[in-house]
Amino acid sequence: MSTLKQQVGNLTISSPIMVASGPLTDSPDLIKKAEDYGAGCVSTKLTLLEQPIKGHRRMYAVRGMYTFNPSDKRNDFEQGLELVYKTKRIASIPVFANIAGPGGNIEGWIKISKGMEEAGADALELNFTCPNMAFSKTPDGKVAGAMVGRNPALMKEIASSVKKAVSIPVFAKATATNVDYLLSAKALDESGIDGIVTMGSQLGVPPIDIYRGGRTLMPNVGLNSTGGLTGPVNRLLALRLISNVAMNTKLTILGGGGITEWQHCIESIMFGSTLTPICSKFLWDGFEVIPKMNEAILRFMEEQGYETIADMRGLALKYLVPSDKIEAYDVLPHFDRAKCVRCGMCLKIGSCTALYFDENKNIQVDGEKCQYCGLCASLCPRKAIYFPRDWENQ
Ligand SMILES: Cc1cc2nc3c(=O)[nH]c(=O)nc-3n(C[C@H](O)[C@H](O)[C@H](O)COP(=O)(O)O)c2cc1C
Repeated sequence: MSTLKQQVGNLTISSPIMVASGPLTDSPDLIKKAEDYGAGCVSTKLTLLEQPIKGHRRMYAVRGMYTFNPSDKRNDFEQGLELVYKTKRIASIPVFANIAGPGGNIEGWIKISKGMEEAGADALELNFTCPNMAFSKTPDGKVAGAMVGRNPALMKEIASSVKKAVSIPVFAKATATNVDYLLSAKALDESGIDGIVTMGSQLGVPPIDIYRGGRTLMPNVGLNSTGGLTGPVNRLLALRLISNVAMNTKLTILGGGGITEWQHCIESIMFGSTLTPICSKFLWDGFEVIPKMNEAILRFMEEQGYETIADMRGLALKYLVPSDKIEAYDVLPHFDRAKCVRCGMCLKIGSCTALYFDENKNIQVDGEKCQYCGLCASLCPRKAIYFPRDWENQ
């Protein structure tokens, strides 16, 4: 019998699906709803000891691609304590408190951490990632969010101090923008904390209305700013971070970033994750999709013979090597004529001169010209082109 349940430190977590910090976790009722739909745990909306800048909740999304937010509302200390306290009164789902102290002020970080522990948080998520508080504005020279995340030594000091001050597990969410992420991860590993959370928001610029002279497309926003870019545009970047951290540290990885399908959760786990935080997908489609994702992950595990999430964790890492070590096979494409509808999409590939229709409009390959790149197989809408993987059994 397969199970989604895992022990993460002293926490029992019923599903790898974590609702990531953001607007979805900004009220006890929403968190209770996430629990009712089968989320494994949640990370609360960011709470700050001091707000470097007051935010406004503004978002713009293209479903299936990205969410952009140049600013978001955040909780003051008292609001954050209340959020955690009230949530724990009505829900039993493990709650990670997403927090930030004032820049490099260690005492402040400890104060907010202990406050959250006393309010009932099951774990802490130190926010070294928020781009909106940091890259776009640094008022009064204060550092916050991603600015702290650009300083591995400071992150290490904060993380180790917090770890010593509380008895609940401590995780950190470090920015992946403008940094050597592995340096950050190693510093966090050395700090003695329990784990790392990928990936927060990348830094993007908003989409613009080219018919209004380049003003933002966002509703209810006049002047705009660079800001948080999340969702599927980041997924492969996130997988790079996750695999890199998995191969080089002993940190537990809460590996999100661009997950929209249950298969993406498995992918993240196979690259080394223990839990898979998700935000954009639930912003677009609600928590209602969680039961389907849980069921599909469980079915997959049963079909494939994995009993636990740990059985899948890191499996993909042994196939990941530096690019000078990849094994590249010279195999010609094969065609499944029953599936091919002769749409000609494969003939549009700009770099390919090898594919052509014969006189019967059957797709053929010129073996002299094919460079075995594989693009045709991934772009064929009917999956009618494939490359036999005979070499796998050699
Ligand atoms: C509107 C919005 C607000 C967010 N607020 C926070 C936050 O307060 N703290 C935090 O650590 N991450 C925050 N995030 C980042 C998410 O927790 C998550 O790491 C990110 O969206 C990547 O996941 P996704 O690609 O599934 O959306 C926010 C994301 C969005 C879209």
